Formats: sequence, structure tokens, C-alpha cells
Amino acid sequence: MPIDTIETIRTRYSCRAFTDKAPSDQDLRTIAQAGVCAPSGMNRQPWQVIVLKNKDLICKLEEEGMKNLAALPDQSIYERIQTRGGRLYYNAPCMMLVPIAEDAFLDCGIVTENIALAATSLGIDTLICGLAKFSFAGAQGNLFKEKLRFQTGYDLGIAVLLGYAEYPGGAPHVPDMNKILWID
Ligand SMILES: Cc1cc2nc3c(=O)[nH]c(=O)nc-3n(C[C@H](O)[C@H](O)[C@H](O)COP(=O)(O)O)c2cc1C
Repeated sequence: MPIDTIETIRTRYSCRAFTDKAPSDQDLRTIAQAGVCAPSGMNRQPWQVIVLKNKDLICKLEEEGMKNLAALPDQSIYERIQTRGGRLYYNAPCMMLVPIAEDAFLDCGIVTENIALAATSLGIDTLICGLAKFSFAGAQGNLFKEKLRFQTGYDLGIAVLLGYAEYPGGAPHVPDMNKILWID
């Protein structure tokens, strides 16, 4: 039974260790459809949602992303990932990539949250992964875009990793309620 929307929003959290078990195709279809149900400016729907279940390809994207991060003059992101186990994609068995038109970051964010919340409501753990862009940042970027059937002119907006937590019971950040202001 899917969980209530407010409860889903409260319990979604970032999972950084996945088991090998992949979500069912039926659940993935439901989640991807929730993604493309997102509203967009002028209803342009300037995105794709690419459901990637090919573990081999996920590993190749991860390897390429880590290589590109390691080549950055600033090593801080690379080192942070190393302290978390060295896995950009945390062993996720599945990911949804969201390629977008160049001015569509806000639309992309809404798609992403729809995906994360739909997955959470189905008991599937997620990680919204901005660093996935580094998988496409090097010489192999165009090859990957072609393999993944990115629309011409689209670049990766973001990716969402999906699967089941190796260590269940993860919790989200503590929200700062002081960010809410009331003007009566
Ligand atoms: C736009 C965006 C990009 C993110 N990119 C990454 C990422 O590349 N790698 C990662 O481990 N976490 C990433 N996160 C997860 C955040 O670190 C996480 O949402 C934040 O620490 C709050 O924790 P919570 O999601 O568990 O509440 C990203 C989150 C957002 C919203």
C-alpha cells in the first residue's frame, strides 16, 4: 500500500549503500511515469526520463565519473566520495537519468523530486545524484549520451539512484524550521 504524501515527503532520505536487488519493472514504470507527470514552464516538458537497469553500463558510467572527478584541480569532491567508499553510484542496481534542454533546471528538479517521492512511497530507496554529470564530462560523454539515447541538444540534468538500502532505517536531514517565515 503506498504511503501518504506528507509522510512520504517527511521520510524520503538519501541512501548511500544499495543491495543488488533491483526494483520491479512495474514499480519502475510507475516511478518514471510520476517523473513525467511533473509540471513544466509553458508545458514544454523539456526532459527525458531514462530508466537504466544495465549494471554493466552503470559501472562504466561510475568509472568514467570517478576518473573525471579525479582529474579536477580541486580534489575535494573526489576525496569525499573516497571517504564514503569510493562509489559514485553506491552500488545502485538502477538509475533514472534526466537529460534536459539547457534552460530547464527548475523543471528538472520537479521531475527529480516526483521520482524520489514516488519511489519512497513504494518502499524504494533513492539518492538524487547531481555528481552524475561527471560521467558525461569527459571524452566518453557523447558516446554515453548516444548509448543512452539522449535527445539531440539535451545534457544530463540529474540522475536518481534507486534500489533497496543495504542498511535499512536511514533518516533524512533535520529540516530547519526557522527557514519558514510567517507574515500575518
Ligand atoms: C540537487 C541535488 C544533488 C545531489 N547530489 C548528490 C550527489 O551527487 N551525491 C550524493 O551523495 N548526494 C547528493 N545529494 C543528496 C544530498 O546530499 C542530500 O539530499 C542532503 O544531504 C540531505 O539529506 P537527505 O536527502 O537524506 O535528507 C544531492 C541532493 C540534491 C537535492
